[in-house]
Amino acid sequence: MPLTRLIYVSTITDKFEASSLEDILRIGRKNNSKNGITGMLCFQRKYFIQCLEGSRKAINETYNKIINDERHTDIMILEYNPIHVREFNDWCMGYIPTSQFTDPLILKFSTSVDFNPYDMSSTSVDMLMLEFKKTHLSF
Ligand SMILES: Cc1cc2nc3c(=O)[nH]c(=O)nc-3n(C[C@H](O)[C@H](O)[C@H](O)COP(=O)(O)O)c2cc1C
Repeated sequence: MPLTRLIYVSTITDKFEASSLEDILRIGRKNNSKNGITGMLCFQRKYFIQCLEGSRKAINETYNKIINDERHTDIMILEYNPIHVREFNDWCMGYIPTSQFTDPLILKFSTSVDFNPYDMSSTSVDMLMLEFKKTHLSF
């Protein structure tokens, strides 16, 4: 099974509650480490951007669960590619929340600080995630 990277964006729904993020991170981290998946989840304003890396089988199975989750909607795949090396090998699910540190980086890859990942090129989203990783903004 080749190593694969998937990146998608999505938008929270009214099913998303105050405790949802903690639940998503707890369950996601438990499942991902069991399934050999690494990656990063960014939550900025009302949007998620998630990068998942692992075997094609594990990525597809996990993505199928994620798309049926009613806490988010308008899920759009930005990237689905075979890769040779993981970018997030140290993180089973790194988490990037909105903060004053993320805004300048968002501006670097967007037309404005009014963050809208649907308007960004997949390369810009890719580079933004790598920049978050470089600056160790993960929790
Ligand atoms: C934005 C978002 C990201 C998620 N990411 C993951 C993930 O990386 N891994 C995972 O197993 N579940 C993730 N989930 C949760 C799944 O939708 C689902 O609830 C979970 O996988 C069910 O786990 P279970 O089969 O162990 O009950 C995510 C959900 C949302 C809304």
